Amino acid sequence: AAIEKGGYDHFMLKEIFEQPQTIYDCLRGRLDANAGTITMSGIDKFAEQLVNARRIVMVACGTSWHAGLVAEYIFEELCRTNVEVEYASEFRYRNPVVCEGDVIIAISQSGETADTLVAIETAKTNGAIIMGIVNVVGSSIARASHTGAYTHAGPEIGVASTKAFTAQLAVLTMIALKLGYKKGTLDQQRYLQLLKELESIPEKVAALLQNTEHIKRLAEKYKDSQDFLFLGRGYNFPVALEGALKLKEISYIHAEGYPAAEMKHGPIALVDETLPVVFIATKDSYHEKVISNMQEIKARKGKVIAVINEGDDLSASLADDVIVVPEADEIVAPMLSTVPLQLLAYYVGVAKGLDVDKPRNLAKSVTVE
Ligand code: G6P
Repeated sequence: AAIEKGGYDHFMLKEIFEQPQTIYDCLRGRLDANAGTITMSGIDKFAEQLVNARRIVMVACGTSWHAGLVAEYIFEELCRTNVEVEYASEFRYRNPVVCEGDVIIAISQSGETADTLVAIETAKTNGAIIMGIVNVVGSSIARASHTGAYTHAGPEIGVASTKAFTAQLAVLTMIALKLGYKKGTLDQQRYLQLLKELESIPEKVAALLQNTEHIKRLAEKYKDSQDFLFLGRGYNFPVALEGALKLKEISYIHAEGYPAAEMKHGPIALVDETLPVVFIATKDSYHEKVISNMQEIKARKGKVIAVINEGDDLSASLADDVIVVPEADEIVAPMLSTVPLQLLAYYVGVAKGLDVDKPRNLAKSVTVE
């Protein structure tokens, strides 16, 4: 087992550190920024249906559902298609309205999650086109789909999903870019710019993984907290949800993710000097708004941990602690801002002496409902 972990203490850590490679593997052979092309045969085959779809429904569970949520923001921005994101377990049981020609994108690492599988089988009988974004080749969801794209992240052993998530984001972003460009809702200049942005993600993830000591120190500092709040807006709102999920899965600390503005409608009541609030505050079109949310937390004496870009002195001045990530276009930024949150959860779990690869009560793949 020590050999399988490749010198890392846990699979989770190994898989976090594999991300520059797994994202690269996911893009390789598909994205060619110089040629201005994205080749995905499973998507090309259904390009017309995608372009004409009146709506796209993302169906998933857990971390994969968070990838769907990021994709909703990206697809709506780049493709101007109405997107809904559904928990598979809710979607399958509530007699959802599914019409001929609707595109259902099922997102699943394992390809075996029972709720997701049944959800797409039901939608299929109503005439929907099913696209599977799956990691495990030949899995049930891959087989039940009309078409799709594999994430190529390799086997994920740690129960908490890490590298599968960033690979899902890479695949979904490529699909949105293809579709937006084909539809004409994404102009050529922006398309080419985003191809370059996406291509540079693996090296940016590698750069941020160069120095993780400070995240370990933060984990030590905050490991005895009772609760954590994670806040973000826009593309980084689902990242906040994912950061909170990762922390509770691995450290058993209660954590909530919220859209930063929505915290005024509830979570703000929890804020006092003992509450760490993690802000995902990278530079994007929401940045000023996020800063004012940070000020609101500071005014109530919360402890602010901010994930920011280099040179963001204003955010840094409001934060008790910062985690710096490389700058990137907001469309691709979640693949960067997620990584330090995975590490934070990992190091808090380790600092508490917990079994981070096999957290209690959780299963790697939930094949029963
Ligand atoms: C379980 C796992 C999660 C995963 C979720 C969905 O809860 O512990 O890590 O996100 O299932 O799994 P899937 O394989 O469909 O992505």
